[in-house]
Amino acid sequence: MNNSMFRDVSSCNTYNYGDSLYWDARYIQEAGSFDWYQRYSALRPFVRKFVPTSSRILMVGCGNAVMSEDMVKDEYEEIMNIDISTVAIDMMRRKHAHIPQLKYMQMDVRDMSVFPDDSFGSVIDKGTLDSLMCGTGASISASQMLGEVSRLLKPGGVYMLITYGDPNVRMPYLSRSVYNWKIELYIIPRPGFEGSAVASIKSSLEPIPMSENGDLPSDFALKDPDCHFIYICRKNPLKDE
Ligand SMILES: C[S@@+](CC[C@H](N)C(=O)[O-])C[C@H]1O[C@@H](n2cnc3c(N)ncnc32)[C@H](O)[C@@H]1O
Repeated sequence: MNNSMFRDVSSCNTYNYGDSLYWDARYIQEAGSFDWYQRYSALRPFVRKFVPTSSRILMVGCGNAVMSEDMVKDEYEEIMNIDISTVAIDMMRRKHAHIPQLKYMQMDVRDMSVFPDDSFGSVIDKGTLDSLMCGTGASISASQMLGEVSRLLKPGGVYMLITYGDPNVRMPYLSRSVYNWKIELYIIPRPGFEGSAVASIKSSLEPIPMSENGDLPSDFALKDPDCHFIYICRKNPLKDE
């Protein structure tokens, strides 16, 4: 299994991560659970800081990850999980039928028109924009997805993107003014890496200064080349026109 794919587009080519058939086949083969990139325990400081436990949360591309279940154990009250894979959604719905805080719907993140504007206080994405960026029509898919995410977020709400995508690769997609959000970047080391991912910061909870197009400070030194990036996109609290 390849779990280190999306650093840039050239590493996408092995599998068709943008294709629902790929994911259905994979979830039929792997009926257990698997969390991409990071487990909830490592992400918890960020989730707890940026996502209120009472907020209505949309988990885009939930797959068969344990993340949402762990969040409910950590007092999160309502998580709507969506995925393009019918296999994953059916499996997860059955598995979590006894957990009323977890809801499941099969849906393409590029068209979430069943939800009205401003439906969610928070949107969490671990590896799903990355998958679309590996598919055909990556750029259009990413714009459709991010447009939908921005539409669904309440003013003041947060889109938390956990990704392998470097700022120079992701920021051109994220920083469009139509989305009406402010972006902060955090960097965490891959599981098992000792110490901070970045030489100049002591805590992962310190934001990394970054320009609109994803340029990092000139003295910036990444100690873990396989780190993960967390983008916190907070929608302008004033309702957009
Ligand atoms: C890299 S996996 C991440 C799964 C899970 N979030 C995790 O952290 O383990 C990407 C997920 O996105 C889903 N996906 C891919 N394209 C999608 C789309 N257009 N709409 C909704 N989900 C999609 C896949 O089915 C897969 O479950």
